Amino acid sequence: MEKPEVKYLKDYRPPAYWIDNTELNFDLQETNTLVKSVLNIRRNNDLSDKTIPLVLDGKNLELLFVKIDKKHLDSDKYQINSENLTIYDVPESFSLEVTTKIQPQNNTSLEGLYKAGGIFCTQCEAEGFRKITYFPDRPDVMSKYSCTITADREKYPILLSNGNLINSGMTDQNRHWAQWEDPFKKPSYLFALVAGDLVYIEDFYKTKSGRSVTLRIYVEHMNIDKCGHAMQSLKKAMKWDEDVFGLEYDLDIYMIVAVNDFNMGAMENKGLNIFNSKYVLAKPETATDIDFWNIERVIAHEYFHNWTGNRVTLKNWFQLSLKEGLTVFRDQEFSSDMTSRPVKRISDVRSLRSFQFPEDAGPMAHPVRPESYIEMDNFYTMTVYEKGAEIIRMIHRILGKQGFRKGMNLYFKRHDGQAVTTEDFVKAMEDANQADLRQFRLWYSQAGTPEISVKRAYNHKNKTYSMTFTQKCPPSPGMSEKKAMHIPVAVGLLDKAGNDMPLQLAGQDKPEGTTILLNLYKTTQTFEFVNVYEPPVPSILRGFSAPVKLRAEYTSREQAFLLANDSDEFHRWDSGQRFFAGTMINMVQGKIKNHDPDVLGAIIEPFRKTLLSTELDKAFISHVLTLPSESELGILISETAPIDPELIHQVRRFITHAIAKALKNDFERIYQDNQEKGLYNIDAESIARRSLKNLALSYLGMLETPEIIKIACNQFNKAENMTDEIAALGVLSHIQCSEREKAIDDFYQKWKSDTLVLDKWFAIQAGSQIPGIIDKIKELLNHPDFSIKNPNKVRALVSSFCGMNPWQFHHISGNGYKFMTDRILELNAINPQIAARMAGIFNHWKKYEPSRQKLMKAELEKIINTPDISRHVYEIVSKALV
Ligand code: ARG
Ligand code: ZN
Repeated sequence: MEKPEVKYLKDYRPPAYWIDNTELNFDLQETNTLVKSVLNIRRNNDLSDKTIPLVLDGKNLELLFVKIDKKHLDSDKYQINSENLTIYDVPESFSLEVTTKIQPQNNTSLEGLYKAGGIFCTQCEAEGFRKITYFPDRPDVMSKYSCTITADREKYPILLSNGNLINSGMTDQNRHWAQWEDPFKKPSYLFALVAGDLVYIEDFYKTKSGRSVTLRIYVEHMNIDKCGHAMQSLKKAMKWDEDVFGLEYDLDIYMIVAVNDFNMGAMENKGLNIFNSKYVLAKPETATDIDFWNIERVIAHEYFHNWTGNRVTLKNWFQLSLKEGLTVFRDQEFSSDMTSRPVKRISDVRSLRSFQFPEDAGPMAHPVRPESYIEMDNFYTMTVYEKGAEIIRMIHRILGKQGFRKGMNLYFKRHDGQAVTTEDFVKAMEDANQADLRQFRLWYSQAGTPEISVKRAYNHKNKTYSMTFTQKCPPSPGMSEKKAMHIPVAVGLLDKAGNDMPLQLAGQDKPEGTTILLNLYKTTQTFEFVNVYEPPVPSILRGFSAPVKLRAEYTSREQAFLLANDSDEFHRWDSGQRFFAGTMINMVQGKIKNHDPDVLGAIIEPFRKTLLSTELDKAFISHVLTLPSESELGILISETAPIDPELIHQVRRFITHAIAKALKNDFERIYQDNQEKGLYNIDAESIARRSLKNLALSYLGMLETPEIIKIACNQFNKAENMTDEIAALGVLSHIQCSEREKAIDDFYQKWKSDTLVLDKWFAIQAGSQIPGIIDKIKELLNHPDFSIKNPNKVRALVSSFCGMNPWQFHHISGNGYKFMTDRILELNAINPQIAARMAGIFNHWKKYEPSRQKLMKAELEKIINTPDISRHVYEIVSKALV
C-alpha cells in the first residue's frame, strides 16, 4: 500500500471555522439512513488568512445535497474526495445544509453509526463522526447539538440522543420520531444516538445542591434483571465525585445503554453513555466477583469523564491522556475507596508491568503525549491510559491530597467549557500550589520506562545510612537521548525485628515519620539518613510511587524478610513476587537445579507462612500466592536474555506442582475453611474468601488426582454463583479426563442463551493447558455461537489463547502464529481497529529466541504484503518491522 499520512503535534493549527449550532436529522431505514445536518458556521477571525476554504471531514458517505443559506450549491463550488468535502468562497457566517446517505447495517467497523443485533448505535471517538456526516471532526470545534431521529415504531420503540428530550411524535402509522437537545457545547466525538427495542430500569439521584437527576440503564429485554449492580455503582460514583472533588452532575437525565457489539469498554457521550454489555450486566449467577468490580470501575470511569473530558475537553488528540490518564486516576481512587486500597494498587501495578512496560520498551513506545500518529485509534494505549494515570498519581503524591484538590479546582475554574492541553493541566497544578513542575513535565514527552539502581551503605561508627540512586532511561523509537526526570521515590527502613524505623535525613533536626518521599532530579543522587541505630533493610518505592523499574539488588533473604515484615503492603507483595520470580528465573537459566530440595524449601516455607497467616487479609494472601505468570516471567527474563516460552512453561509448572504437593493438606484445609457461609454476598470480605478458596482449588488441581477432580466437579455442579462455577470449570479445563468434557458440555447447555457467559466458555477453552489445544480453538471458530464480527467473542477465543496460553501460542511449529495471522487478515476487512489490536501480539518478536523470532517476522511480512491492508494494521505492523 502507499504510505499513509502521518499527523504531527507540531503541525497543530486552530480551526478556520467554528460551528455554533449543529442540527441533525436521522431517518433510519432498513437499507439506508439519511442524515441531514444544518450547521451554523462562523469564520475564526483570530486567523489572519480570511480566504481559507471550509474543509469538512467525511468518510464512506454518499453526498446528496449541499445548501448554503438555504440555496443549492453548484457542484463547481465544492470538491469531494475520499476524506473531505471542501467548499470555496464561503461567507463569514452562514448556514450549511448537507444531506448524506449511509448504510449502518453494513458497517462492521463498529465506528460511526452502525447497526448490530437489531440496535442502531454510534461510536464516534476518536474520528467516527465523519462516517455519519461531513463535519470538522476534531475535538477543539465545540458545538451545541440538537438531534431528531425518525424510525419504525415497532422495531425501534426507543430513540435516544444526548441531553434532554424536547419533543416526540408520529410521522405516520408506523414511524415515530424524537427530538433531543444537549444544552452543553461539545466536540463531535461525544455525539451519540441509539435506536432499538430496549427496556430500562430507572432510579434517581439527588445532587448535593438538591437537584434530582433521572438515571436510566437501557438493555435488551432478557437482561432487565442484570442492571442493579451497574445502577448502584453509578450512584456511588456520583456521590464520590461530589465528596472528593466537589463535582456534581449537570443534566437532568443520565442514560447508559448496553450493547453487545462494541470495540472497547465503554464511551462517555454526554448524557448518553454507550457500554459494552460486559461492563453493565451482572447477577451472581452469571458474573464473577471480578466482573462486579470491573462494572463498578467502568461505570465510574465514564461518569467521571463528564467533568474530566466533557466539560473540559481536548484541544487535539495528542492530548488524549489529559482526559484518560486523569479519569483512570480518578476511577482507581474511587475503586480503592470502595474496595481495598493495597489490593487495588497491587492489581493495577501488576497490569502496568505486564502490558505498559513492554509497550514502552517495544516498537510502539510513545510518550504519554504522543508526537505523531497514523491512526489515532491505535493510541488508546496502556501508556496513554495507565502510565498517564501514574503521572497524575505522582503529582498527587508530590502536592499532597489537598494541594491536588486545589489544583483541580483551579483547572476547572480556568478551563470549564474549553478544549485544552496536558500543559494547561500541569500549569493549573503548579499555579494553585506555587510548585515547580518544570522537570516533571518530561513524563509527558519522554517515552520509555526509567530504570533506577540503588547503592546503599551503612556506617556503623556514625550510625548513618546512605542511599545513592542512579536513573537512566533506555532509548525509544525516534528518541535516543533522555534527560534525567523528576522521580518521587517513597522509602522506609526496617530494623532487624522488622519494624519501621523513624526516618531522619541529614539536615533535619528530628525524625519525620516512617515513610519519606525522596525526590530524584539528577542522574545520580545520594540521600543520607542519620541516627540509624542498626543496619536497616530498605523498603524502596513504597506504594509504587513512580512507574519505574527498580534494580535494588536485594538478596533473596532480604526479599523473604520484606515479604514477612514490610508495613507497606504493596512492597510486601512486590518483594514476594521478586522472590518467587527470582528462583524460577534462575531455574529457567539453569543457574539452579530444579530438584534441589533446598531450593524448593526456600520457596515453600515463605509460601506456607503466608498461606496460613491469620492476620493478613485474604485478598492480599491470594495476590501474594499468585505466582508471576509465564508472560510476567518472560518479560523479566527478556531484560537480559531471549525468551523461550517452552522452558518457562516447564519451570513454572514444576514449581506450582511442587508447591501443591508439599502443601496439599494446607490447601485442603484452606479450601474447606473458606466455603460459603450463609448467603452469597459481594462485599470485599466474601470476595476475598472466595478468591483464597479458589486459589487453593487451583493449586490442588495441579495434582490431577481423582480425588481433586471429584472436588472440582462437586463445586462445579453445586455452584450458585459464577465465581465458583467458572473457577471449578477452569481447574477441570486443564485436566485430561472425561469429567472435563462433561463439564464443558454441561456449561454450554446451561448458558447457551447468555452471550456474555458464553464468552467465558470460549475463553476457558482457549486458556486450557492441555497440549494441542489449538485444534480445538480452530474448531470453535466454526461454532454457531462464535462470530468474528463480535469483538467480545474475538477477545474471548483469540486473544485469550495468546494471553493465557503463551507456550502453545508460541509453539515452535509456528502454528499459533499462523493462526493469529489468519485472524488478523480476516478482521482487517471487517474491523480494522480490532485487527490492529490483534496485530500488536507480534510487537515483541525481537525478545524471543532466534527460531521464534524468524517465524514471527515472517508473519509480520506476510501481513504487510497483503493487498488492502488497513491504515490501522499498517501502522502497527510497519513499526514492529523497523
Ligand atoms: N473514551 C473511551 C473511554 O472511556 C474510550 C474510547 C476508545 N476509542 C477508541 N477508538 N479506541 O476510555
Ligand atoms: Zn476514558
